[in-house]
Amino acid sequence: MNATSFLLTCKPDFEKVLIREIALCGLLLKEEGPGWILTERSGAPEKTLPVRELCFACFILENPVIITATSSNGLAEKLVDFLAGQIGTKKIEGPLGSLFFSSGDEKLIHYAETVQSRFAEKFRKKISRVAKLLKDGIPSGHDFSEGLFVHFTDFNQARVSFRARSQGQQRMKMDPQAPARSYLKIEEAFYMMGHAPRPNDTVVDLGAAPGGWSLGALKRGAMVTAVDNGPLKEPVQSHPNLHHLKEDALKFYPDEGVVSDWLLCDILDRPDIIFAVLQKWFSRRWCRYFVVNLKVGRMDPVLLLKKIRDEKEGLAPHCRSLTIRQLYHDREEITLMGELKAAAGRNPA
Ligand SMILES: C[S@@+](CC[C@H](N)C(=O)[O-])C[C@H]1O[C@@H](n2cnc3c(N)ncnc32)[C@H](O)[C@@H]1O
Repeated sequence: MNATSFLLTCKPDFEKVLIREIALCGLLLKEEGPGWILTERSGAPEKTLPVRELCFACFILENPVIITATSSNGLAEKLVDFLAGQIGTKKIEGPLGSLFFSSGDEKLIHYAETVQSRFAEKFRKKISRVAKLLKDGIPSGHDFSEGLFVHFTDFNQARVSFRARSQGQQRMKMDPQAPARSYLKIEEAFYMMGHAPRPNDTVVDLGAAPGGWSLGALKRGAMVTAVDNGPLKEPVQSHPNLHHLKEDALKFYPDEGVVSDWLLCDILDRPDIIFAVLQKWFSRRWCRYFVVNLKVGRMDPVLLLKKIRDEKEGLAPHCRSLTIRQLYHDREEITLMGELKAAAGRNPA
């Protein structure tokens, strides 16, 4: 069955941005609420962005249907019927995802959990073999996963889907030694990439102070050049693999012929200024892998996404892989992660 509609969730207050972003995927808005939007295909056949590329979406439920009931038991029964109907005579072998969630307040989130436990009880009785295959969450690393995905918009109403995907955002655990909470962002970015600096990798960290991102690389045994006019904090400042350059990160460039394994960039400045810095780094292949945080509060984020993805003037043409996401730990920010196309061995600048 061709997908025709999607329920997308996002961070609170980013609904309007997501509504604008979905136009890039050829989707139209049908309905919206706090932390979610419902879309449908505009029918436009022209080249569009796949939904999996949406930066501001967190979870995507495909072709969701509404279920209503006045009690948690009533909702649970309807969900049992829904899932049994989807499974039909299909032979289910692998694990099925399961997510009961809400973008609403704490009470609604708690209610979703209540419905989940009622559902689990009833479903076990109905199809115990399949019930054992239901696992919490949406497996990452797949395009869309099958299972039972239920988003509550009210106490007597939810939207349910058999297919869903996570855009990969993940809450990370704070390291009590980390000099800043921004440490969580680099950890989340490495998690999302499925790749992180290795021992002896070279890392340039632009806008490094007080040192959260540098710590993420140092902990993995990398050699870090931290560029920031501001001071670093311990345990980063006196780490033996850390070299601190107190200079303007916008003007920093590597020595002739040097290609860093990683560029980390979290400079507090306007995105268009950082974009120009990245153009220089990317076009000259000064690094292989990159993680960049852009502060979007002072620029239209959708225009920025278009600029980054532009096939001629953007950053995308330089990349072998490029993921752009608003991370769980991002605020008015987005993060670019990826790998450049074959890094030149020498610096053509
Ligand atoms: C959000 S903080 C970086 C936090 C860092 N990633 C961490 O985890 O600790 C932004 C940093 O950008 C630095 N910055 C802003 N403009 C800069 C410039 N032109 N050159 C060097 N550093 C700059 C600031 O000094 C500040 O330390």
